[in-house]
Amino acid sequence: MSSSGPPFDIDADALSADEAGATVRALHNDLHRHARLYYVEAAPEISDAEYDRRFRLLQALEERFPDLASDDSPTQRVGAEPADSLETVQHVVPMLSLDSSEDPEALRKFDERLRKALGEGADIRYILEPKLDGASIELVYEDGVLVRAVTRGNGRAGEDVTANLRTVPSVPLRLNEEVRPSPRLLAVRGEVMMLISAFERFNAGLVADGKEPYASPRNSAAGAIRQLDSRLTAERELICLAYDVLAVEGTEFEHDRDGVAALRDWGFALPERIEVVDTADEVIAYHARFAADRDDLDYEIDGIVVKLDDLDMRGEVGSTSHHPRWAMALKFEPRKEVTKIEQIAISVGRTGILTPVALMRPVEVGGVTVSRASLHNREEVARKDIRDGDTVRIQRAGDVIPQVVERIEVEGEGRSRPFVMPTHCPSCGTEVYEDGPRTVCPNTFGCPAQLTGRLVHFGARNALDIEGLGEETAVLLVDRDLVTELAGLFDLEAEQLMDLPGFAEKSATALVAAVDRRRSTELARFLHGLGIPEVGQTVARDLARHFRTFEAIRAADDEALTAVHGIGERMSEAIRGFFANERVAAQLDAVASQMRELVPPPEQKAATDSPLSGKKFVFTGGLPTLARSEAKKLAESVGAKVTGSVSKATDYVVVGEDPGSKYDKAVDLGLEILDEDGFVALMKEAAEAETDAPEADPFTAEED
Ligand code: IVH
Repeated sequence: MSSSGPPFDIDADALSADEAGATVRALHNDLHRHARLYYVEAAPEISDAEYDRRFRLLQALEERFPDLASDDSPTQRVGAEPADSLETVQHVVPMLSLDSSEDPEALRKFDERLRKALGEGADIRYILEPKLDGASIELVYEDGVLVRAVTRGNGRAGEDVTANLRTVPSVPLRLNEEVRPSPRLLAVRGEVMMLISAFERFNAGLVADGKEPYASPRNSAAGAIRQLDSRLTAERELICLAYDVLAVEGTEFEHDRDGVAALRDWGFALPERIEVVDTADEVIAYHARFAADRDDLDYEIDGIVVKLDDLDMRGEVGSTSHHPRWAMALKFEPRKEVTKIEQIAISVGRTGILTPVALMRPVEVGGVTVSRASLHNREEVARKDIRDGDTVRIQRAGDVIPQVVERIEVEGEGRSRPFVMPTHCPSCGTEVYEDGPRTVCPNTFGCPAQLTGRLVHFGARNALDIEGLGEETAVLLVDRDLVTELAGLFDLEAEQLMDLPGFAEKSATALVAAVDRRRSTELARFLHGLGIPEVGQTVARDLARHFRTFEAIRAADDEALTAVHGIGERMSEAIRGFFANERVAAQLDAVASQMRELVPPPEQKAATDSPLSGKKFVFTGGLPTLARSEAKKLAESVGAKVTGSVSKATDYVVVGEDPGSKYDKAVDLGLEILDEDGFVALMKEAAEAETDAPEADPFTAEED
């Protein structure tokens, strides 16, 4: 085909059915080719306007002759009609995960193991790639046409997200056959990612709309590919890089590098800097180079992947049930940056706890701008000796949660006085009290900060999901006395909101309507939104499933509560204590009377696909970087339970510095023991599997 291509200077209405058929086929080839030149090779040959003109011609022809429309048409890129649900389908071959470590020593051990297993003279080569931090996906092609795209799910089966992946420009809808014929069947593994630049634009838009931003490009990409409406996926500007031939029929490869070359020929976009080397030293050098350059990329990578290049050798060393023995990931250390603390502020949360927060000169850590980090409590601040004006090193734990790692001594830099907690609540002026390392404001229902926190929590995406009720709005509502108790949210009128900063008639009416819509909601969301102590999303769902009405939960005694799977004595006590408090009860009556319908979950066992859902974790000893509360949050976010004591029923024991007797007991019982790195890796893996599983948690469904 000449580079100018056929002119396509055609009037869609003037063609016969036969002529239209031929033109549609020619347009397919033409548009596929130009899309590839643009998105994969970054070498466009025609202008955007010319592409659009040909695209519209194809649309017009498909409209006039509906029989000519097909799934591999370039017009499918814009998305299709929304689906009711995502179907679960089997993978062609299991999608394993990777063994990983941050320690170059582990790579040397890996290399030694392979050399031993394959024998002295084995000609070992490693193929090296960046480890892409996105959502992994299986793409299946039959006779060159994309027929299925499946999330990783639990590794054996995932969700059918074909319509969504068709909207991703770098996913070939049809293999390019100019260089190499299509095999009968091809299954490819790749990673769907959001470019960091696109992610920042997208998050800024969410914030402007009063919505919660995503924590990372990976979360956003994972959410995007699981949309029921593929038009929403199309809007999110995703890329897909392919790195592995999972299965192929009708052709054979001897080396991974041959598969990689074939993927390139067929028109896939690939990660950059794929290299083949033959020593562990070269692998480590490649890792170091990438670690130094990772910030220059517009997508997130979190390490490198090392694989045996020879496919026969792979077969020889085989796989465990989780991961191949012929590959491993060598991860990067969490990103660290240096910045200055402008001020240690006190934030009063919805539960009344005063938390010191470091407000810092904004700094970019791995593609995300960080300007504040929790300092947890007064003991933590004292331990790290952090003061206003200090220069500090910060990082993102698990590459997500910002943390102050340590203070850095800067010569000649004067220091301010040591930090002290205020004696009175900065929000309401009530005298605070100390509860262990915590400092607490006792004014539960009168304190504006606590009410603001409760409002935000109530309206959050994973609770009532009230669009437009973000932090800023909640602050305004409380500051201006428009809402003086939680239930007051439902009495708001558009006229009261119109004159608030950032509001106009349309947004005021929209917020009131959004609140009204949520008078009907899922019981589990409502329970979670109330902020009952100890009741996170998982427990809320368990309670809702078990008791089925709000009244039944409020009336439950200790025996009834502890009969619920996962609820122990301590939780039961906290829950009953909350409901028994008279002032709380009055607030709850008021809120409940505003609700129209609280829908219990369907009566079925939780079909949780998170591999860790229901698993019991125990922590002992101080973790090097994560606060206990953060670790607990991470565990609970993947459906795991955190308990206080070690028993046979414990699944994992996470051990930090100076562990207590729990550690000895765990060793005695032969339980699985993890350090912080192992724990974080496990959480990440589970989160990946979970973001891939729809039925895992009704709350993870987004923008539904
Ligand atoms: S190879 C069986 N190569 O990292 C080995 N995986 O737990 C197949 N990943 O979710 C994986 N970049 O999707 C491989 N260049 C790369 C990768 C990569 C990212 C993902 C993979 C999985 C996770 C490993």
